[in-house]
Amino acid sequence: MMELTHDHLPIHLTNLAQRYGNIYRLKCGNTTMVVLNSSDIIREALVKKWSDFAGRPLSYTGDIVSGGGRTISLGDYNEEWRAHRRLVHSALQRCCQQSLHDVIEGQALHLRKVLMDYQGSAVDLSEDFTVAASNVITTLAFGKEYDKRSLELQQLHSCLNEIVALWGSSWISVLDSFPLLRKLPNPVFSRLLKEVARRDEIISKHLKNYKSQDKKNEDAITGSLLQGLDKHRNTEDGVLLTDIHVHMATVDLLIGGTETTAAWLNWTVAFLLHRPEVQTKVYEELCTVLEGRYPKYSDRHRLPVLCSLIHEVLRLRPVAPLAVPHRAIRDSSIAGHFIPKNTVIIPNLFGAHHDPAVWTDPYSFKPERFLEGGGGSTRALIPFGGGARLCLGESVAKMELFLFTAYLLRDFQFIPPESEASLPDLRGVASVVLKVKSYTVIATAPPSGQKH
Ligand code: HEM
Repeated sequence: MMELTHDHLPIHLTNLAQRYGNIYRLKCGNTTMVVLNSSDIIREALVKKWSDFAGRPLSYTGDIVSGGGRTISLGDYNEEWRAHRRLVHSALQRCCQQSLHDVIEGQALHLRKVLMDYQGSAVDLSEDFTVAASNVITTLAFGKEYDKRSLELQQLHSCLNEIVALWGSSWISVLDSFPLLRKLPNPVFSRLLKEVARRDEIISKHLKNYKSQDKKNEDAITGSLLQGLDKHRNTEDGVLLTDIHVHMATVDLLIGGTETTAAWLNWTVAFLLHRPEVQTKVYEELCTVLEGRYPKYSDRHRLPVLCSLIHEVLRLRPVAPLAVPHRAIRDSSIAGHFIPKNTVIIPNLFGAHHDPAVWTDPYSFKPERFLEGGGGSTRALIPFGGGARLCLGESVAKMELFLFTAYLLRDFQFIPPESEASLPDLRGVASVVLKVKSYTVIATAPPSGQKH
């Protein structure tokens, strides 16, 4: 248990790999965990043997936050889960084709205005990034976007963040390992229950509002999901999906899609402050290729320097550094080791991205490694996991990372405030999401000389 209480667990598990190898076992009470630390081994388990390792650990507290295992992220692998994931996946795909690009462009332009309004003062941008990412998801989900000062938005964020933070706390996880403790008073657990109830109230209100609208936003995912439910009821495959599944899918999209993208944007600016010449190269590429216009996602193949930056930040700071734990649903093997049924599998994506056998100088920020002749290969990157549990929002996230970064670096140069003695701390704070410690930055006009 002591091994799991380190403040930066991904770094600690990566250090253990240097002593014990890229696959090792930890025992916690009567739970056996196997930690995977290289991208080949992670791929073997998650992709090649996906049907052996697609389960999620069964947990008392997980059941509470996921409405009895009915979220996609925490639900165990079974027919109901497969039907649920298929339903949400096709709704997301439909909306990616129809409206995602416009939605992200709208938010990127709004973010541009917010940054302009700061007029070169030193600010912490994390909340603005969260609002931009969250507005993409709430627009997709129920056709609604919020102002940063909106009370409703603040309530939604505070409640979702609290749930993630409380659920990750040892006061809660101890209840999974030691059932007897569930009988004792536990104020942290009571708070978790309260926040879950508050979350459900907020989401139910939105779904009710959506259903009662005469003129519904046709592009919203909620519409596709509800239509999908109706179709599902008519099929005879024996699996019943209900409004609860639409409700929990909304929770999945909001939790999975807000802090991840926002944390990644924060990391990107932090790394660029450490190596301003990378920012200049991306800016020059944007000027040359776009000739003054704003970028489209289809431009990505013509913007290799920008893409190398995106890959390098995903490599160094995979925002879900330990993915979400998997569970062996039958006896199997990984890298030649026998893995019994019910073993918990931890894919250490952070470790895989720092594997010295794959990456030269793995701890350095060097986007150029992904450019021709730089020696890096995107094949060894695995920031979204893989197989049956591949991040459900991968396509949404990729488009967001590309467009937000391109818009920001086209119109702004990020510089550190003079008053600040040091640059942002790059170690980060690891919980379910790996975040950078808060820092301030000045967004100013890009260097003259090159003009759009
Ligand atoms: C930089 C952005 C993102 C990264 C790096 C990321 C990464 C991940 C990872 C590593 C997992 C766990 C995979 C596993 O269990 O093996 C995951 C799961 C998930 N992500 Fe993302 N994610 C991002 C953005 C998003 C967005 C934008 C959404 C929603 C639109 C989203 C929704 C989900 C959901 C629902 C799951 C659970 C999938 C399942 O259990 O089947 N994520 N993500």
